[in-house]
Amino acid sequence: DWTMAEFRATKIAEIREQVGEGRVICGLSGGVDSAVAAVLIHEAIGDQLTCVFVDHGLMRLGEAEQVVSLFREHYGIRLVHVNAEERFLGGLAGLTDPEKKRKFIGGEFIAVFEEEAAKIGGADFLAQGTLYPDVIESVSFTGGPSVTIKSHHNVGGLPERMNMKLVEPLRELFKDEVRVLGKELGLPDIFVGRHPFPGPGLAIRIPGEVTKERCDILRKADAIYLEEIRSAGLYDAIWQAFAVLLPVRTVGVMGDHRTYDSVCAVRAVTSTDGMTADIYPFDAAFLSRVATRIINEVKGINRVVYDYTSKPPGTIEWE
Ligand code: XMP
Repeated sequence: DWTMAEFRATKIAEIREQVGEGRVICGLSGGVDSAVAAVLIHEAIGDQLTCVFVDHGLMRLGEAEQVVSLFREHYGIRLVHVNAEERFLGGLAGLTDPEKKRKFIGGEFIAVFEEEAAKIGGADFLAQGTLYPDVIESVSFTGGPSVTIKSHHNVGGLPERMNMKLVEPLRELFKDEVRVLGKELGLPDIFVGRHPFPGPGLAIRIPGEVTKERCDILRKADAIYLEEIRSAGLYDAIWQAFAVLLPVRTVGVMGDHRTYDSVCAVRAVTSTDGMTADIYPFDAAFLSRVATRIINEVKGINRVVYDYTSKPPGTIEWE
């Protein structure tokens, strides 16, 4: 029986005790979990913490800039911002299989992170924003010795290879509790209430080959969709909402000429932990507003469909 204020104080004491005079490195993803972990650890040990933000170029519109300004300017946290877009897009060229894309991104992420860690002279500890469901999912995602539904890259791999001890102050928490803790630590609402975003980013929302051009198209559609959700006051009622850019082109008409462009699927689900999910029942007027805006404002998309699949049998992401 504890409150978040007590949890914060307890964890700060524990982190100080665990870390001592050591140096900690923390990977920021732009998501709530790593952000809350970083701010909590920074509060405990200040400049003994360095954050590394591997920017794979697969973030949503404006997100990378937000992360950098929040951490560097607002909190004064030591932050290494690595712009690795070209490297990631280069490696993704020609990859279409979802697991191959995921594996490449996970592996490359670790490689870039290790290089940056080496550049700053290494660290004794690796901090991660691992949550309780991550601990469970990394088990349940493996349906048996050889059956992997999807490989998550945020759990496992890194610590063993880098030979560092782990600092995981959020291991006992669920997502909603992390948000309460984030508020307690003064993180802005736009960060704390943010929908979860997968480590491989937009790459798993672009079935087929990922290119810079397709990322840019998807970013625009996604931003419009989220803007409409926010202005309808629905953002907080939804667990995750996002656009997916399909590798399918269909015929349309725009004014007096024929178009032949990509299909965009929009998805929104409610959930408590991401393990199961229901579709969000938007009204028809909302969905047609979104469709009209995306088609009118985003060059490269001429058709929008709504994903009506719950989890199970679907997964939240398309890949
Ligand atoms: P699925 O698609 O498996 O997603 O129903 C469940 C939750 O996990 C997120 N997700 C990921 N997060 N790396 C991550 O960090 C991944 O590879 C990954 N795949 C899915 C997804 O956004 C949802 O919140």
